[in-house]
Amino acid sequence: MTELNVENLSKSYDKKNYILKKLNFKIHDGELVSILGPSGCGKTTTLRIIAGLLEQTDGNILVDNSDVSNVPVHKRNFGMVFQSYALFPHLTVFENVAFGLKRRHETIEDIQNKVAKMLKVTGLEKLAQRLPKELSGGQQQRVSLARALVVNPRLLLMDEPLSNLDAKLRISMREEIRKLQQELHITSIFVTHDQEECFAISDRVAVMNNGRIEQFDTPQMIYNHPKTIFVAQFIGYSNFLKVDQISENNKFLVQGVELTCSQKSSNATCLTIRPDRIKFGKGANTIEGIISSVTYLGTAYRYIINTKIGELKIDWPGERIELNQKVILHLDENALIPLEG
Ligand SMILES: Nc1ncnc2c1ncn2[C@@H]1O[C@H](COP(=O)(O)OP(=O)(O)O)[C@@H](O)[C@H]1O
Ligand SMILES: [Mg+2]
Repeated sequence: MTELNVENLSKSYDKKNYILKKLNFKIHDGELVSILGPSGCGKTTTLRIIAGLLEQTDGNILVDNSDVSNVPVHKRNFGMVFQSYALFPHLTVFENVAFGLKRRHETIEDIQNKVAKMLKVTGLEKLAQRLPKELSGGQQQRVSLARALVVNPRLLLMDEPLSNLDAKLRISMREEIRKLQQELHITSIFVTHDQEECFAISDRVAVMNNGRIEQFDTPQMIYNHPKTIFVAQFIGYSNFLKVDQISENNKFLVQGVELTCSQKSSNATCLTIRPDRIKFGKGANTIEGIISSVTYLGTAYRYIINTKIGELKIDWPGERIELNQKVILHLDENALIPLEG
C-alpha cells in the first residue's frame, strides 16, 4: 500500500523566481494520476523532486504519512521511466532489467525468477539476450518499464514515457502500462503534455500551469467541467465569451446579451462552449448570426459565425450551409460553462 502526499511543494533556483509554487496534492493507494501541462510548466521538476533526484526549496513529500524528504533516491524504492529510455547500452535486456536487483544483492535465484517473470509480463521473453541497440523504440521502452517494475517499487514515476514513439505504438503502449499498473496495483504518476493520452490512462489528472495546479479532478470532470480559462483552452475548448457582469439570478451579461447557464458562478470572467455543443435553431440562449467561414472536417462542417456576442465556432454534421447566410443558433444551458481566471 502506498499513498503519496505532496504538501506546499515549492522550487526556486534563485529564491526569486519560483518554478513550483506551493503544490498540494494527494494520490491514493493504487491510483494513477497524470500531471498534464505545457512544456516548461514544471512537470519534470515535480517528478524529480518526488523521486529524490532534486531537492525542493520548500514543502514536504510524504509516503504513507512518513516524510521522505531526507531519504536518498536509492532508498526510496521508486520506479522511474523516462522519455529517453536510459538503458545501459552494453547490457542485455535481461541484465538491464536485473540491474536494480543485483545492486540490492538479491540471490541469483531470486534475480532469475523475478526478471523472468517481469520479461514475461512485458512480452520481452524472446528478446532477453539482445542489446538495446537491437530493439525498436517500443521494445526499449518496455525494457525500461520492466526495469522499473521488477524491484516492486512503492511508487512508479513516468516522465513522458511515450513521446518518442509513433502515434499507433503510443496508444498500444499506454494501454499496456495502464493494464500492468492496475494488475500490480502500483500507485503511479504519469507526466504528459498530451490530453488524450492522460484522459485515457488516468484515474485523476492534475492540470498544471506555470508551477501551479489549476485543477485536480477525474478526466470526466476536467473534460466536462473545466474550472479555469487555461484548463479549458488546454483541453481544446474554443468559444471564449468575456463576461461583463453576473446578476444575482445567475445570468451572465456578454456584450449586452443575457445568457443563462445551469452551473452557478459568482466569479466567472468568461463563458465557454464546445463547437459541437452549439446547435442551429431556437432554444435557451438563442442568438442570430451570419456565417463567415465554412470548412469541412470529415464528420461535420466547421462554421465561424458572427453574432452580437462575438465570433462563434460551430461543428455541425448536417447539410452544408452557404457563406453569408443568416442563421439562428442556441447555446445549451448545460453546455455553457463559466470559467475563472
Ligand atoms: N537547473 C535549472 N535552473 C534554472 N531553471 C531551471 C532548471 N531546470 C529547469 N528549469 C526551469 O524550470 C521550469 C520547469 O521546467 P520542467 O520542470 O522541466 O518543465 P516541464 O517538464 O513541464 O516541461 C522551466 O522554465 C525550466 O526552464
Ligand atoms: Mg519535462
